Amino acid sequence: MAVAVVIGAQWGDEGKGKVVDYYASKADFIARYCGGANAGHTIVLNGKKFKFNLMPSGALYPDKVNVIGNGCVIDPKRLLEEIEMVKKEGHEPLLVISGRAHVIMPYHFELDGAEEERKGPLAAGTTRRGIGPCYSDKASRFGIRVADLLSEKTLSGRLTKLHELKVKQLSIYGKNFGQTYEQVLEQYLAYGKKLAPYIGDGTQTLAQGVAKKKNVLLEGAQGAMLDIDHGLYPYGTSSNTTAGGACTGTGIGPTKIDEVVGVVKVYTSRVGSGPLPTELFDAVGNGIRDRGEEYGTVTRRPRRIGWLDLVTLRYSAWVNGLTGLAFTRLDTLAGEQEVKICTHYELDGTKIDYMPQTPEEFARCKPVYISMKGWKAMPEPEWKALAKRGYSSLPKEAREYIEFVSKSLSVPIYVVGVGPGREDTIVLKHVFAK
Ligand code: GDP
Ligand code: IMO
Ligand code: MG
Repeated sequence: MAVAVVIGAQWGDEGKGKVVDYYASKADFIARYCGGANAGHTIVLNGKKFKFNLMPSGALYPDKVNVIGNGCVIDPKRLLEEIEMVKKEGHEPLLVISGRAHVIMPYHFELDGAEEERKGPLAAGTTRRGIGPCYSDKASRFGIRVADLLSEKTLSGRLTKLHELKVKQLSIYGKNFGQTYEQVLEQYLAYGKKLAPYIGDGTQTLAQGVAKKKNVLLEGAQGAMLDIDHGLYPYGTSSNTTAGGACTGTGIGPTKIDEVVGVVKVYTSRVGSGPLPTELFDAVGNGIRDRGEEYGTVTRRPRRIGWLDLVTLRYSAWVNGLTGLAFTRLDTLAGEQEVKICTHYELDGTKIDYMPQTPEEFARCKPVYISMKGWKAMPEPEWKALAKRGYSSLPKEAREYIEFVSKSLSVPIYVVGVGPGREDTIVLKHVFAK
């Protein structure tokens, strides 16, 4: 039995969905603990691509319990679509949506856009999925929770005041909120009816699993650098995406966590705005974006590409308490003569090895690199064959690259990804013994 957390160690889109899908084969429970439909987790199964925004990445197994924890914010419409998607695959998802999770309301989408426009250079380039405004309401205790959708009396009581307030708020931004109180109430009561069979007590469900010594996998969303506290404020998201969020977002206490696996893409990618010291604006960056089809899963925006950044990774290893590393996309980085790793920054003429606290300082950081020899490009079937043969058959230079990173972080390698599929994964250590 074990409780394991899988987190994004960088800026999101590291390949968490794939790693969670792989580890899920031995899990009994898989739970999302933060974020909402801003996440886009891709799973490639038998060549078919699935993109989940809200569903935990264990959803494609018919016999696993999937939990959407209290730390998440839920867009009911999108979640219902994803439930249908799983049903189309031939099974009814075993899903428990925490009644304590907050609900994204129509005015949250409108406010997300209006606030972004207002912020100018401080805009994070959000996914416009209503995430920030929903978490703001949660923190101000103005929020509507999933359990509230089940009672007309409760929902109408909460919404009467809120609707009026949100109309006023939007008007400050010069926006007209087009939906009446009655329309919103009717729509969300209907969502509540449809979601009712899945709404439960996520905390109890997981507590019972832990008590029965089941394997529990907690799936992070976004990445450490987007965390509301530890990330590059204000350019990140509005929740705790780091491992601590797995405890608060599911109700599993910290002493129950056995493993924290950080997913690391072997280069940097970032959607959204804000400084990114190792960003590449040249043919190398464009080549990686093209080869890797690096376009946002949620928004289709081209992802910004850069060399691997050890400064942010060291920070990430610390704030997450990483016990293992899952490297992804060794196949995408292949074909470069030389690969670079940023080991330090130069800030105003001084060499620093830590993440500065302000975005202004971060923007002034110049990367200091070491160079390593790249490894050769190979066609997909060769990577697949290599994945079957195991770690020692990886190109020597690729092993040296990830071993250097692992050593620098003092965190062992658990997983190496050489393609998007479940079978393109080399596992050195499984987080679940059985
Ligand atoms: P997530 O948000 O962390 O789950 O990651 P996304 O799904 O947004 O983006 C990761 C992308 O990389 C997806 O298209 C995955 O299918 C793909 N992917 C994951 N691991 C690998 C890998 O090792 N090699 C390649 N080529 N693609 C990968
Ligand atoms: P997954 O789980 C990459 C980024 C947005 C924006 C900032 C705030 O797929 O890794 P938000 O909509 O959350 O208010 O946007 O965070 N962002 C992500 N970037 N992957 C994600 O999720 C992200 N979720 C949010 O681009 O800069
Ligand atoms: Mg993603």
